[in-house]
Amino acid sequence: MAVGHIQFGTSTGTRGQLGPTDVIPVLSRHVLVDGYDVVCDLEASSGSTIVDARTGTRYLDLYSFFASAPLGVSPPVLVRDPAFLAELARVAVNKPANPDMASVAYAEFVETFTRVLGDPQLPHLFFVEGGSAAVENALKCAFDWKSRHNEAHGRPAELGRRVLHLRSAFHGRGGYTLSVTNTDPVKTARFPIFDWPRIDCPAMTFPCVGAALDAVVAAERRALAQAEDAFARHPHDIACFLAEPIQGEGGDNHLRGEFLRAMAALCERHDALFIVDEVQTGVGATGSAWAHTQLGLRPDIVVFGKKVQLGGLMAGRRVDEVPDNVFRVPGRISSTWGGGLVDMVRSRRMLEIMESERLFDRAATLGADLLAALTDVVERHPRLLRNARGRGLLCAVDVADSALRDEAVRRLREDELVLLLPAGEQALRFRPALTIGADELERGVAALDRVATSLGRTRIRRVETGAPSPGPDSSTPSPAPSPSPAPSPSPAPAPSAQDSPAPSSSTQQKGQR
Ligand SMILES: Cc1ncc(COP(=O)(O)O)c(C=O)c1O
Repeated sequence: MAVGHIQFGTSTGTRGQLGPTDVIPVLSRHVLVDGYDVVCDLEASSGSTIVDARTGTRYLDLYSFFASAPLGVSPPVLVRDPAFLAELARVAVNKPANPDMASVAYAEFVETFTRVLGDPQLPHLFFVEGGSAAVENALKCAFDWKSRHNEAHGRPAELGRRVLHLRSAFHGRGGYTLSVTNTDPVKTARFPIFDWPRIDCPAMTFPCVGAALDAVVAAERRALAQAEDAFARHPHDIACFLAEPIQGEGGDNHLRGEFLRAMAALCERHDALFIVDEVQTGVGATGSAWAHTQLGLRPDIVVFGKKVQLGGLMAGRRVDEVPDNVFRVPGRISSTWGGGLVDMVRSRRMLEIMESERLFDRAATLGADLLAALTDVVERHPRLLRNARGRGLLCAVDVADSALRDEAVRRLREDELVLLLPAGEQALRFRPALTIGADELERGVAALDRVATSLGRTRIRRVETGAPSPGPDSSTPSPAPSPSPAPSPSPAPAPSAQDSPAPSSSTQQKGQR
């Protein structure tokens, strides 16, 4: 039978057949809908305002798609640029396999990335979809490197398969990353994981002076001793040390440059690569392209994702001591789409805007004001809030306990229409777009101040009546009535994290968190 050319019809499929109120019911039939109880109106939403398509409710967005939207939602600077939209549409009709099929758009992205975010000492680039896959390819690079390094020095090539990492780290949920992620046990339980060496996270508490500083320095010493011990217990078998410069999901735990540089020196002594995971901290959030440069680090590999719009890594330094590394031998690391061309075109334009508008410097300035305002709020609510901290716009405060923190997130969302993320056991973290207005940040801080006041009243009632929960719909146990307002000297909050937005009360019954 002869097969003729296809006569394409005019079917539009489901496009235009569903309205905003259909969204949650349709999705819920097939996927776990445990995020915000919001149907995002992508046309009405703009910058740091997210509009619910069902109700028109306008939320102040301090979460920015989990720190992944550098210019906010439907950035006006892109939406009002017809030439860019046409370019994006032309590219979007394809999803080429970048690693095999080069294109001008691919090269333009690489050139822009290198100019805005690149480090001449880290010339090798690799792109893939998502942060977890990016971390895993960084680990593959390290395993390959260490194995070849061992072999070149007359040791077994089978050695070099362990990853030294920190407690309360979050690096994703893939096959290898599950073994280094250790925040909320729900995320890792029942999956097979490698028994890789884990050391304490000597997180700072703020203000980091006096006794608080002494406690951090002591915690650093213990962590460094644990690392020494791990290298001694696994000779030539540790391929790398992997760390977030500031732990995000684990609780916005800040580490001192002194500690991370000591870890880097240890890695150098033991021929292990030093890898920083900047998936959450990278691309201007902390007021510079990368957080690690502010900490005086010279990593062998930097992993990125989120605000770049795709995942990947940049590598160099000691990686090139092994000539046949994964960047030279074909087939060792690759994927079909190699990051995705549409995301690259959007990323290129966003990076151009970040560069021309000097958004990293802006984040540093705005972030300093945000931190000062948060410090003020903490001082006004010393029994409820503490530990205001931040680099650039990556700011956080701790609430007295998990139950009150969860209640604060809920009240911010429901009473104040502010979307703010939890982190770790007690933290509230700010992850605004780099384009957020100073007035919007002020609104967010004022909302937090009001919520803290109302939570303070709830706590007083609770203490007076012995009621067990902070809010009307919470079933969490009663916290200690009066936690110390002083910074806690303990190194890091116990492992636990919220990696997804706090669910609305209507979705909470799924028991995800
Ligand atoms: C530091 C860090 N690494 C890795 C990941 C994983 O990225 P993805 O969710 O894109 O796989 C995340 C995600 O939040 C992260 O914060």
